[in-house]
Amino acid sequence: MNTPTCGDSRIDDRTGADTRADVQQSAVRSYYGETLRSSRDLRTTACCSIGAMPAHLATILARLHPEVRDRFYGCGSPLPPALGGASVLDLGCGSGRDVYLLSALVGESGRVIGVDMTEQQLEVAERHRAFHARAFGHARSNVEFHRGDLADLTALGIGNASVDVVVSNCVMNLVPDKRRAFAEIFRVLKPGGELYFSDVFSDRRLPRELLADPVLLGECLAGALYVEDFRRLLAGLGVADARVCARSPIALTDAAIERKIGFANFESITWRAFKLPLEDRCEDYGQVATYLGTLDEYPHALDLDDHHHFETGKPLRVCGNVADMLGGSRYAAHFRIDGDKRRHFGLFDCAPAAGAVAVPGAKASCC
Ligand SMILES: C[S@@+](CC[C@H](N)C(=O)[O-])C[C@H]1O[C@@H](n2cnc3c(N)ncnc32)[C@H](O)[C@@H]1O
Repeated sequence: MNTPTCGDSRIDDRTGADTRADVQQSAVRSYYGETLRSSRDLRTTACCSIGAMPAHLATILARLHPEVRDRFYGCGSPLPPALGGASVLDLGCGSGRDVYLLSALVGESGRVIGVDMTEQQLEVAERHRAFHARAFGHARSNVEFHRGDLADLTALGIGNASVDVVVSNCVMNLVPDKRRAFAEIFRVLKPGGELYFSDVFSDRRLPRELLADPVLLGECLAGALYVEDFRRLLAGLGVADARVCARSPIALTDAAIERKIGFANFESITWRAFKLPLEDRCEDYGQVATYLGTLDEYPHALDLDDHHHFETGKPLRVCGNVADMLGGSRYAAHFRIDGDKRRHFGLFDCAPAAGAVAVPGAKASCC
C-alpha cells in the first residue's frame, strides 16, 4: 500500500498523476452521467445528508422544477446569507439545484455561474433555465452554465477577483488535484469574497487504492479529504482561518461499502473561508461586534460559525479575525464593529461552543 503524506500528496505526486486523474474524472463522469438517475440511486447517505433547510430556502426549493430537485446529489446546504445582487459561482453544480436556489437569492441584479464537467448533468440544468426565470419573475435568466474542469477556471474565462461568493456541494472530494481547485477558488474570489461549501471529510488519510473503486469514489467517500489535510492545504494557500458552519455524520448504510471503507469515519461539513489576510491564531484587540438585524431572513440572530451566534443588538467580544471577517466582507453593512487593532491584549480567550463535536484529531475552529 502507498503511504500518503500530508496535503493530499497521494494524488499530487507527478508520476502517473495525469493518467490517474483522467481515469478518476472519467469514472466520476460516468457515475453522475450514466449510473445515477436520481438521488434515490445513491448507495449511502454521503451525498444526501442534509440538515433541515431554513423555511425561506424550503419555500424556494418547492418552486424548483421536479427534475432538478430529483437529481440533487449534494451533502449540505451551502447557501450563505446576504446574497442580494451578488455574483456567485457554483463549482460542480450538477443538474443545477443550488444554482436555481441561488438564482432566487441573488435576485435579478445578481448572477449565478454553474460549472460542471458532466454533460448529462448540465443538459438537465440548461433545459430548465427559462422555467426558473419565469418562476422567479426575472425578465431574463441570471444563470449561466459552463462545461469544464473546475480546477481550471481560466479555461472557462472566469477572471481574477471576479466573483463575490464561491459555493460547492459535495464535489471537492471527487476532484483529483484539490490544491489546484482551491487555488483557483481564491484566484477568482474578489478581496473580501467568501467560499462557502459543503463536502465529505474523513477522520484519517485514506489509501489511494480506494480511488480506483468507482462506487466508493462516486459515492463521495474514497476521495474525501482528511480534515487536517484540508486545513493544511488552505494554510498553504494563505487562507489561515476557515470556520465550520455545520456538520453531520455520514452513515455507511450499504454492507459492501461498509466492508471496504468502514475503518474510517465520515462527516459532511459546511465551511466558510474569506479571501482576507487573517492571522493563524485568534488574537485579542478588545473588539466587539453587534449584528444589526438587517438581513430580512434573519431578523433575530445570525450565525457566523458553529460557535458564533450573534443575537440582534447584543454586542459580542470577538477576536481580530472575526472582526475582519464581518467588517471586511459583504456582511459589513449588517454589523457594527467597535474597536480597531491599535492595541493588542494577547491571544483571544476562546473555546468552541459547549457541545460542539470535534472531528477526531481536528483542531476546533478558534474563537
Ligand atoms: C456529488 S455531485 C453534486 C452535484 C451538485 N453539486 C448537487 O448538489 O447536486 C458531484 C458533481 O461534481 C461534478 N464534478 C466532479 N469533479 C469535477 C471537476 N473536476 N470539474 C467539474 N465538475 C466536476 C460531477 O460531474 C458531478 O456533477
